[in-house]
Amino acid sequence: MSNFDEIIDRADTRALKVERCSVLFNRKDVLPLWVADMDFAAPPAVQKALKQRIEHPIYGYTVRPESFFDSIREWQMRRHNWSVENSWIEFSPGVVPSLGLAVQAFTQPGEGVIIQPPVYPPFFGVINDFNRKVVENNLVEKDDHYEIDFDHFETMAADDNNKLFLLCHPHNPVGREWSEEELRRMGEICVRHNVIIISDEIHCDLTLFGHKHIPLATVSPSIADITVTCMAPSKTFNLAGFSTSYFIASNTRLLKAMRQQLFGYHLHMGNTFGALALEAAYNHSEEWLDELREYLEGNVMLMHNFLTEHLPEVKMVMPEATYLLWLDFRAWSMSQSDLKRFMTDKAGLGLNDGSTFGRMGEGFMRMNVASPRRIVEKALIQLRDARKEFLSEVR
Ligand SMILES: Cc1ncc(COP(=O)(O)O)c(C=O)c1O
Repeated sequence: MSNFDEIIDRADTRALKVERCSVLFNRKDVLPLWVADMDFAAPPAVQKALKQRIEHPIYGYTVRPESFFDSIREWQMRRHNWSVENSWIEFSPGVVPSLGLAVQAFTQPGEGVIIQPPVYPPFFGVINDFNRKVVENNLVEKDDHYEIDFDHFETMAADDNNKLFLLCHPHNPVGREWSEEELRRMGEICVRHNVIIISDEIHCDLTLFGHKHIPLATVSPSIADITVTCMAPSKTFNLAGFSTSYFIASNTRLLKAMRQQLFGYHLHMGNTFGALALEAAYNHSEEWLDELREYLEGNVMLMHNFLTEHLPEVKMVMPEATYLLWLDFRAWSMSQSDLKRFMTDKAGLGLNDGSTFGRMGEGFMRMNVASPRRIVEKALIQLRDARKEFLSEVR
């Protein structure tokens, strides 16, 4: 049994999650619960493979053997019942880089790319950076979760200027694991209107509470034919520092267009250690992952129960996947800048500002609960006490 309760000091490891706090929050000593990076040790099999390789003192350019692709193919079959071929898979240094490559491969400057806010901020970034047009199909808040506005989505897809759709599945930050029916409806709309889909499925292995991930490309052959799927072991096994991900497309035209961009920028060499880590993770760390998911469910339930008891006006969207919680503070009626200041200065918490996920994120914060339970507890106590103090000050 892995010890996810162990608190590991990340000081002096150049961890972005820790080092950027002074810039982002103007304070070094906030509890860092922001970027999607876990405070857990990588699986033992990954550590072992890396240690073995590091013993050899030459770290020159390396190739990716067929075993790299085999491990991805077998993982997709075992975990997601998705039958892929090695020849459909291409390495990429990151999922966000892949999104940028796709924007350049499939659209021209000025053309529209559809996204569904509130969504992971780089979805806006990769469109704006290449002078394409952000086309928003806002998610719809319904009771305590989010749904898709299919009518508006179809109107956007039918516009000839809109050529590409970036799907986030599971959706960061609202934690939805899109159902087969929802995927089918989105996919069929895109098939009807010749919109290519880039499906960012980086969080696909982190489903919770019995939810099952359905890769978009498995829904139907016609949807697979317009889809490029981006995945990685980085969120699943906490390996983001290795810049190792991949994309999968059964349509050779789409795969070729992506590859052309990748090779054009010479991004295909990759990272010696990342490829080894991916194989060790996918081939030998499945048990670790299942224990992790159980631990994360415990942290989510702790959050839910604590908020219900002590801060019932703060609403938490129950995630179907991911360790990222979308917290609704609108009942506090604070401006976004006051809310941010409250979190850092009063509660001592380094959370993601909800408004960076789009206008719909005003009044929200995103919290990463992939930390030892005692840290999550500490964060909750700091939040509760800071709110108490704030209320006593304003009375
Ligand atoms: C939806 C989503 N896509 C992509 C990424 C980052 O991927 P990469 O580090 O491979 O660029 C993240 C990280 O938080 C994410 O949440």
